[in-house]
Amino acid sequence: KSLGSIELLGQKYPTDDWTNITPKIISKLGKNLHVTKNHPLSHVRQCIVNHFYRTYSNRVGNPLFSVYDNLRPIVTTAQNFDSLLVPPDHPSRKKSDCYFVNQETLLRAHTTAHQAELIAMGLDNFLVIGDVYRRDEIDSTHYPVFHQVDGVRLCTTEEVFQNVKDSNKLSIFEHRGVESADKQACHSLESVKIMEHDLKQALVGLAQSLFGKDIKYRWVDQYFPFTHPSWELEVFFNNNWLEVLGCGIIRQEILQKAGTVDRIGWAFGLGLERLAMCLYSIPDIRLFWSTDPGFLNQFITDDVNKAITYKPVSIYPQCYNDISFWLPQDTPYCSNDFYDLVREIGGDMVEQIMLIDEFVHPKTKKASHCYKIVYRHMEKVLSQEEVNQIHKQIEKAAAEQLNIVIR
Ligand code: PHE
Repeated sequence: KSLGSIELLGQKYPTDDWTNITPKIISKLGKNLHVTKNHPLSHVRQCIVNHFYRTYSNRVGNPLFSVYDNLRPIVTTAQNFDSLLVPPDHPSRKKSDCYFVNQETLLRAHTTAHQAELIAMGLDNFLVIGDVYRRDEIDSTHYPVFHQVDGVRLCTTEEVFQNVKDSNKLSIFEHRGVESADKQACHSLESVKIMEHDLKQALVGLAQSLFGKDIKYRWVDQYFPFTHPSWELEVFFNNNWLEVLGCGIIRQEILQKAGTVDRIGWAFGLGLERLAMCLYSIPDIRLFWSTDPGFLNQFITDDVNKAITYKPVSIYPQCYNDISFWLPQDTPYCSNDFYDLVREIGGDMVEQIMLIDEFVHPKTKKASHCYKIVYRHMEKVLSQEEVNQIHKQIEKAAAEQLNIVIR
């Protein structure tokens, strides 16, 4: 049932009982940090695009990959999920994990949402770069809006085997094959191995061009509904294994549905914030949204490959406050509902929220949550007074909107 409408990026959409986008999230639409001059996310985007331009070129030296960095982030569930074979009951479709405009429209949860349509348009090599939206916890590495790069490369039989001698009997397809850990039923093992090699070489090259030739890395098996086999690339950075990207051989069913029957393809997806935080030593993901010249001016350069180390303008103190409440008994509740409410009211003053205690009262069977909210402003000292005021507003709004009872 329809319950009014909302205008987003100049277009009107009906709203319904699935609508859960908030004003705070709506205010991020159209910010396009990934193409903002001198923004650190824009530098990383440019480095990645340059790597693919350099790595793949046609016979006259022009880049093979086309770049799409201004596609609308408002997509259908068909684009975000169905076109990628995400099953109807998959957890990533949940209302608690995505920002829905209405039942069939959402803010894309990954740039992979555009893969099938671009393939159907006849593109064989492309990158998609843009803002993506996910409901999630709150800490220094999570923010409900972030930026991704997706890449796709499709190859014909001739292209796959172009460097193999006497390859005229080889095919990218195998009839009556079976699916195994190594390949999909329809593919020949030799074509998958060549594509895997090309994919991994391109992505290790990318990691090396960002982090340096001498990085330590490893490939880990992964699962995605839209690729098989699938892998994750991890890079050893600051004494930690850092997940850099996910990738794999595109499910042939996706290509078939997009009208491409003579090619095999690979795809990958990565997040820009995580890379930029490592590359520039940026300690908190909220900083990417800062308009403070103390942050932005540190990234002014015409050379995207320049090594830059962010120096904190100054470290302001944290303030803590706990909130405990009884969960509603008749209406649904999820922590992400509370996190969104805190973001609406506390904005970027909230650094982190932790669920520190949960229990069910033995007699009344009522469930209780206690959260610690860490407040810290990026650009000034917060007084306990100010924090208490915001905290009170959060308590009031939570009681009114989420049906909880403050203890
Ligand atoms: N879309 C995936 C993610 O957001 C990444 C991915 C893209 C993996 C393409 C495989 C292929 O995690």
